Amino acid sequence: MAQAMIAGMLRASFVPCDHILVSAKTESTCKLVHDRYQVSYTLDNKKVAQFADILILAVKPHLYASVLEEIKQNRKNASIVVTIAAGVDLEFMYNYLGEEAKIIRSMPNTPSLVGEGMTAFCHSKQVTKEEIECIKDLFSSFGSVQTVEEKLMDYIPAISGSSPAYVYMFIEALADGGVRSGIPRDAAYKLAAQAVLGAAKMILETGKHPGTLKDEVCTPGGATIEAVAALEEHKFRGAILSAMEACDQKNIAMKR
Ligand SMILES: NC(=O)c1ccc[n+]([C@@H]2O[C@H](COP(=O)([O-])OP(=O)(O)OC[C@H]3O[C@@H](n4cnc5c(N)ncnc54)[C@H](OP(=O)(O)O)[C@@H]3O)[C@@H](O)[C@H]2O)c1
Repeated sequence: MAQAMIAGMLRASFVPCDHILVSAKTESTCKLVHDRYQVSYTLDNKKVAQFADILILAVKPHLYASVLEEIKQNRKNASIVVTIAAGVDLEFMYNYLGEEAKIIRSMPNTPSLVGEGMTAFCHSKQVTKEEIECIKDLFSSFGSVQTVEEKLMDYIPAISGSSPAYVYMFIEALADGGVRSGIPRDAAYKLAAQAVLGAAKMILETGKHPGTLKDEVCTPGGATIEAVAALEEHKFRGAILSAMEACDQKNIAMKR
């Protein structure tokens, strides 16, 4: 996820590469990221904490406690600390950094890598309006951004953090269907992925309700409505809602 964010920030020239210092657990990851993005690296998290005005913690949720213990005495007092982990809430962060800390709790997603990310975030009281605008610019450099109330943050992974995984499954299934009908595999992925991309753009750019757009594809008595009926019979929408509920439950159970 960190690499997706770095790639997006660099591509959009939000920061030059020499303003980014990364750390990881292993030197091999640091070297790989350095070779890919020409950013500096260190294996010492404390050095990153001392360096950063915006400190992004991109480790797995269960590592937040140990990394925060490591860096809490070393970070710049005025730095903005950005979390991207499911289940790491502001209260958890206050326990390590104090209630005066400037914290952004965010949930990005991996399409950030191609500049089409979706990041939702909330913030602690101390973050100023100017800093919020700066953080919006940061997230906007690799996609869209949405501020939400903190009580909704636990539900963001299911809708946009994790949902690319379900969309890939949908695209894979569409492509399998095409291959079954004799369409070459490469063409099938292109046809399926572009259809999904175009449909998503129609929602964002026309502002029309998804149901209206669906109706516009369904000729009365035609083939599309037969496909829609088959999806309803197989509980397509119910399956998505169940998947999201499972995702929510897991995220809440993993809460720090
Ligand atoms: N993947 C997603 O789609 C997604 C979406 C939204 C949010 N997130 C959040 O993003 C976070 C990272 O997820 P990910 O999928 O990017 O995981 P990941 O690929 O496993 O990356 C985690 C990175 O943390 C590094 N690391 C481990 N221990 C460390 C330590 N003590 N100090 C410094 N760095 C350390 C690892 O370094 P090494 O490579 O050297 O081991 C690795 O590069 C998670 O909290 C997740 O909830 C992920």
